[in-house]
Amino acid sequence: MFHLDRAPADPILGLTEAFKQDTHPDKINLGVGVYQDATGQTPVLEAVKQAETFLLEHENSKSYLAIPGVPELAKETQTLLFGDNHPIITNARAHTAQTPGGTGALRVAADFLKRATENRTVWLSDPSWANHRTIFEAAGFTVHNYRYYDAATQGLDEAGLMEDLEAMGQGDTLILHGCCHNPSGIDLTEAAWRHVAHVAQAKGLICLVDFAYQGFGEGLEEDRAGLHILLDAGLSLLIASSYSKNFGLYNERTGAITVVEDDTESALDAFSHIQAAIRAIYSSPPAHGGKIVATILGQPELKALWMRELADMRTRIKSMRQAFVTGMADRNTGVDFEFINHQKGMFSFSGLTKAQVEKLRADNHIYIVGSGRINVAGITPANLDPLCDAIAKVL
Ligand code: LMR
Repeated sequence: MFHLDRAPADPILGLTEAFKQDTHPDKINLGVGVYQDATGQTPVLEAVKQAETFLLEHENSKSYLAIPGVPELAKETQTLLFGDNHPIITNARAHTAQTPGGTGALRVAADFLKRATENRTVWLSDPSWANHRTIFEAAGFTVHNYRYYDAATQGLDEAGLMEDLEAMGQGDTLILHGCCHNPSGIDLTEAAWRHVAHVAQAKGLICLVDFAYQGFGEGLEEDRAGLHILLDAGLSLLIASSYSKNFGLYNERTGAITVVEDDTESALDAFSHIQAAIRAIYSSPPAHGGKIVATILGQPELKALWMRELADMRTRIKSMRQAFVTGMADRNTGVDFEFINHQKGMFSFSGLTKAQVEKLRADNHIYIVGSGRINVAGITPANLDPLCDAIAKVL
């Protein structure tokens, strides 16, 4: 009936499917951004287990949530983003709706923008998370790239970024990664955030901060430093939060979209359109993940437990970065991987070419995204040596 050609597999999720089908006992998955512990498992956090036990005892209805989801989740999301009693909270300049994951938050943001502005131009870092382009193109936007990663220095192309900011048009939408840039692991410097804030103000750019990794870089507060530079500059913003990684709630699809406006009235106006956009896509969010996050953040003991578990994940990833860099240095390949120690969060841009990535998969059953992005959280003490050996071989 439809006569369609087959759509290509998703570059990230398609890789997970291929990994699952691989029966080799020593296969290694450094593809999808999912945390693995030292034994290669993706555990349910203890804080999540305890919150679920609490919910099992106390939940007394499965009736619909309101369009913006669990109200306590909205409140706790704002505390995570802005900090306790921040003027944005006390002046009611922000409103938050729970969404099905960070992807849901981004799609709601796109549909909100279609209602809020005639401008259909979105700017993404080069490179960016592959799904950013897909989401905004699906919503009818034209997507451009701004320079970000400098392959020569394996760092930020600050000069290129500055030039491309100048090329952006009045009222265009600029997507920024709040921290732990996906895929490069290279974050904006403080000076770059300030420059972005300045240009955004001068050109009336709409900044959309994708904040999927809060707590995976340096800590919950440290990771929001860039966001606060934009807020301190007085910008109105959209913020997409994800609780997939920092709460390990991947399959519960739990995220949030927050709008920050100039004043209380404009915030209410904008939020009414966010709610209208949500109603047209999925009506109201699923409850379970939102209730888990709200329960944990609302109970001091559970919150403290979660913060310890988050710190453990962050520390393990950092130790794997160091072990990988040392492991590669020991193999005397002539390639210096020290830059990986300076990247933040789950991912690193390894510098591996597409051909090298393909060879690693064919010869060693090692799964890496075609861009050379490595999920450092997939490295374990057990797979470190075979991984370094295999990479040394393809260099
Ligand atoms: C990733 O970048 O691997 C994750 O954010 C998972 C996804 O949905 O792509």
